Amino acid sequence: MNTADAWSDFWKQGFPTSFASDLPESYQGEIGSFWIEAASKLNKKAKILDLATGNGALALLFARFSQKKHMDFEIHAIDSAAISPAENNKTPSLTPLYSSINFHSNSSIEDFGFDTPGSIDLISSQFGIEYSDFTRSISNAASQLKPDGEFRAICHYTESETFENCIEDQSAYNLAIDTLQIHDLISNFLKSIGSIDSLSALEKEILIVSNQEKLNALMSSINVLREKYPNSAVTAYFVNNVNSFFSSRLVSTAQEKANFSSSLDTGARMGRVRINDQINATLSPELVQRYERAISDSGLTLSNSSKFLDGEKIIGWCFCANKPT
Ligand SMILES: C[S@@+](CC[C@H](N)C(=O)[O-])C[C@H]1O[C@@H](n2cnc3c(N)ncnc32)[C@H](O)[C@@H]1O
Repeated sequence: MNTADAWSDFWKQGFPTSFASDLPESYQGEIGSFWIEAASKLNKKAKILDLATGNGALALLFARFSQKKHMDFEIHAIDSAAISPAENNKTPSLTPLYSSINFHSNSSIEDFGFDTPGSIDLISSQFGIEYSDFTRSISNAASQLKPDGEFRAICHYTESETFENCIEDQSAYNLAIDTLQIHDLISNFLKSIGSIDSLSALEKEILIVSNQEKLNALMSSINVLREKYPNSAVTAYFVNNVNSFFSSRLVSTAQEKANFSSSLDTGARMGRVRINDQINATLSPELVQRYERAISDSGLTLSNSSKFLDGEKIIGWCFCANKPT
């Protein structure tokens, strides 16, 4: 399973951003204001390119601004994963906005280009460009910008709370998948009880001692995960899915049970790939300095390189740079 597949799977589920739980208001709070401020400096019909757009949260914000202020922006948004934000969107009222954006699926930041290089007014990246090969990507971005065009990025940063949460989620995934092997425990129990067509048949199966032992082993493993990582999204993932299936779907065929256990396992493994990807993408203070050098080497003039804060909370690291005229 590669990282692009893991992201494609995530975006298919329709999440608006990759931080639905940590930063639910992300693009309305400080982050939103930062990007609106960038958009408000642009002229009518300006061309915007959003890098590593996911389900297009930032592109959507620009599209909404453009519509409200009659700016007629031309918005492009790229991602190396297979994305289809308009199709996966769960809010029908957003459909016209989504259809005003040009999404480019399976497109990498390092190589993406327009027929006319040097035509973009604003290149944006919200937790995006740091996932790519930065030196190649910033040099490509610089060549796509118009003279006086602006590049802005907010990147993952090791001193943020989000990074701490990621490290905890990574440990929780490792415990659940490798040490506790929760998937095997679920699968063993469900295989043992097999196809069940009534509640009375289920009761009989549950009374069998070997089934009770399997169920107890599963429950005590889930409790270990709960005690060790009570606030992790990984714990919530296992607890919520198991509770929901076990409380209402045990009267089902063996195949349905196998499908549940296999999709729970795939979901957990994909989640771990994404968390590892995010941890690898996170900038340390040393990497920030390397990025600053790469920005200068690409020919852009760095105007800001600082922590990005929401109140007291560190959200990430922010870079702003312009192409000289
Ligand atoms: C944290 S998510 C994106 C978040 C998105 N910008 C948002 O604000 O919701 C990181 C994204 O980077 C994409 N990505 C990783 N490497 C890439 C590359 N080389 N070129 C383009 N996209 C890339 C992944 O597919 C993933 O969708």
